[in-house]
Amino acid sequence: MTMTMKTIEIAPGITWVGVEDFQRRMFDALIPLPHGTSFNAYLVKGKQKTALIDTVHRSFEQELFGRIAAVTSVDSIDYLVMNHAEPDHGSSIPLVLAAAPKAMLVTTKKGAEMAEVFYRVPESRRLVVKEGDTLDLGGKTLRFIDAPWLHWPETMFTFAVEDRVLFSCDFFGSHIASDRLLADEVGDIVIPEARRYYAEIMMPFVNMVASGIDKTVAANPRIIAPSHGPVHANPARIIAAYQQWARGPLANKAIVPYVSMWGSTERLAQTVTSAISAEGVEAVPYDLMVADVSHIASDLIDASAVVLGSPTVLGGLHPVATNALTLVKALRPRVKLAAFFGSYGWGGGAAAQAKAVLEGARFEVAAALEVKGPPGDKDLADAVDLGRKVARRVKENVSPGSGAA
Ligand code: FEO
Repeated sequence: MTMTMKTIEIAPGITWVGVEDFQRRMFDALIPLPHGTSFNAYLVKGKQKTALIDTVHRSFEQELFGRIAAVTSVDSIDYLVMNHAEPDHGSSIPLVLAAAPKAMLVTTKKGAEMAEVFYRVPESRRLVVKEGDTLDLGGKTLRFIDAPWLHWPETMFTFAVEDRVLFSCDFFGSHIASDRLLADEVGDIVIPEARRYYAEIMMPFVNMVASGIDKTVAANPRIIAPSHGPVHANPARIIAAYQQWARGPLANKAIVPYVSMWGSTERLAQTVTSAISAEGVEAVPYDLMVADVSHIASDLIDASAVVLGSPTVLGGLHPVATNALTLVKALRPRVKLAAFFGSYGWGGGAAAQAKAVLEGARFEVAAALEVKGPPGDKDLADAVDLGRKVARRVKENVSPGSGAA
């Protein structure tokens, strides 16, 4: 018995043929997925030609084929548009090209190189496009928009001109699996999950993000159809969120990630956090032993200060704090104000290492406090001073009324 696969027409002749992965709990061996994720692919059927926009993770290729078959025969596909080469979207490309022998892989110049490396797609099956190029499917035109670094260097958007559907791949995406496809039907998790996704995938490329937003606004889409998570039939909401995250003011907020071995650095963290908060600045503590890194990343979108706490271990930072700093550096948040606190047993060193790493990432380290052993009254007073100093600097830099999206 052949099971009929559910497909969803998002515009006349444009059909979602992707998959929902409710089971996946980790992405890129880094990002927790509390809501699973989806791999969205779309079939665009013109009067003469048919294009498939992206594919799905290879473990789901039979679902992809089943959904395509519900609309048209797989071997009738003329173009396979690869907006992005990452295997979550691309790993079924060899299977689709084998099943659709006349299909050409449509991608950017860099994408063509990646298609050869990742999927062994021969030159004879590749069609390179650049910004502004179009493909006529017969009553439906696909226009290609360069979108480098959103999320790899080869990435592009595809715009279905007549229907004003923007296939934005990772951009505007979120890790959500749902039996509802439209964002307005999925509910309250859409923007928070898109924010978490933005923090981890898009934030390191903020200049490219700004360009991607501008190109999106210029295209004036009626629908934004990303490759993960819900489809935005009300694009204004997700575009406004991206504007806020990439270009909005920093918030009246400091994050305090810390790790503690015997409670001394934790005591300092509590004192610093309270001092920041007492000055009217939101202070968000993160015990790094239990914190979800994606929540820290999400707060880094608009935090105005990072106040790191770590004991000295073997002359330097605790490895858990090193890991957190690596993440902060890699995500390249807009925040550039930092401070450090920590305790040591017989010789310091964590502060100097933290300062070196933070300054290497272009942070200003406004204050550093190292305390010998469990903090005494004088040490706690110094921690209060550090918290106040950070809070005052935050308030100087934050305009009244600004806040987190
Ligand atoms: Fe969803 Fe960058 O791949």
